[in-house]
Amino acid sequence: MSTGTLIPPHGGTLVNRIVSEAEAAALRDESANLPKIVLSAKQSCDLEMIAVGAFSPLTGFVCSQDFESICKSMRLADGTVFPIPVTLAVDDETKGTLEAGGRAALYHTDGTLLAVMDVTDIYTHDRDIEMSGVFRTDDEAHPGVKAVIEEGDWLIGGDVHVLTVTPAEEPGEQFTDYRLTPSQTREAFAARGWSTVAAFQTRNPIHRAHEYLCKCATEICDGLLIHPLVGETKPGDIPADVRMKCYETIIEHYFVSEYTMLSVMPAAMRYAGPREAVLHALVRQNYGVSHFIVGRDHAGVGDYYGTYDAQEIFDELDDGDLAVTPLKFEHAAWSHKAQGMVSAKTFPKIQGDQVFLSGTKVRDLLAQGERPPAEFSRPEVADVLIEWATSVEPVAS
Ligand code: ADX
Repeated sequence: MSTGTLIPPHGGTLVNRIVSEAEAAALRDESANLPKIVLSAKQSCDLEMIAVGAFSPLTGFVCSQDFESICKSMRLADGTVFPIPVTLAVDDETKGTLEAGGRAALYHTDGTLLAVMDVTDIYTHDRDIEMSGVFRTDDEAHPGVKAVIEEGDWLIGGDVHVLTVTPAEEPGEQFTDYRLTPSQTREAFAARGWSTVAAFQTRNPIHRAHEYLCKCATEICDGLLIHPLVGETKPGDIPADVRMKCYETIIEHYFVSEYTMLSVMPAAMRYAGPREAVLHALVRQNYGVSHFIVGRDHAGVGDYYGTYDAQEIFDELDDGDLAVTPLKFEHAAWSHKAQGMVSAKTFPKIQGDQVFLSGTKVRDLLAQGERPPAEFSRPEVADVLIEWATSVEPVAS
């Protein structure tokens, strides 16, 4: 067990935008006279990520200089790497109520006052540079691009002062026990005596290839953080509460609790492939993670990105840009001949030897109450998914 110190946050300081109770009371009074912005699900997720310091060094939604610099060169205007602009888009009507230099009150759709924002900058939402720079496509069928197209024509930049971090949601969707902030995961790692920690990002139920990546990474670090994204995902993705049951189940049966932690990342998914892989890595650095797993088509969707684009983008960074180390994994699958998980780097390719199943095939099996092969999914995990798949109407992905 290591006793060293944890990795520093990205940009050097772990941001905390949550106000004290006294400040909250004053802001609550002030908010009654402020223009109101009701946040979308994605914007609420972003606000929480800023509030707890997961998006450090950001202290608010980005202003125009940072927006342009991020889209064009993957950096904030001051040169710090930041791959995706965290924006607050509003429509014409809301924009008409705002004044640069003033403030706005940010609300959840359920009416909860979430934050007060300094409106530093109001600028045109240049979707073209966002789509080409961040998503590498302007195809409306891409879920991240679609979200950008549907957002308002104006962007609002400025610092946030956050009163409510976790808004009310459907019961069972807050994962309160697992919703650790970056400072809490850092404390937990220190308490376990971990200084090197590998993190596994996922938005899917955990399968054998995921498990293989996690275990390889655990071998070279003090511990493993399974860190599923539980913020907004696209229709067709498996709901976070079902996935959480899968993670709990596989940890119980197939991981060693002494070396494994589970907590959630409340971010929204962008499906921006390579750019999002860099975001996922720097966010995990803020959570205190030293090594970040990047496998095949990380954060990708459809055929928009090459299988290893999300790994190659890390090679474009300069030394010192990110302290976290990407752990790059080849496409892994079960080999009948090897009787274990293999990749093109570890076992020769033999026609028909490896178990590959498409997402559609897996969904069909589950919906019929059938377990996918044990070489693909642990039976205990398959059973959690069958229970869910046989109780819901199928959703087109
Ligand atoms: S993602 O959107 O979070 O990337 P997913 O949950 O499927 O989607 O993947 C989690 C991580 O596992 C990502 O780093 C991804 O690249 C990796 N991964 C998924 N399947 C495989 C596989 N068969 N071989 C190697 N890496 C994989």
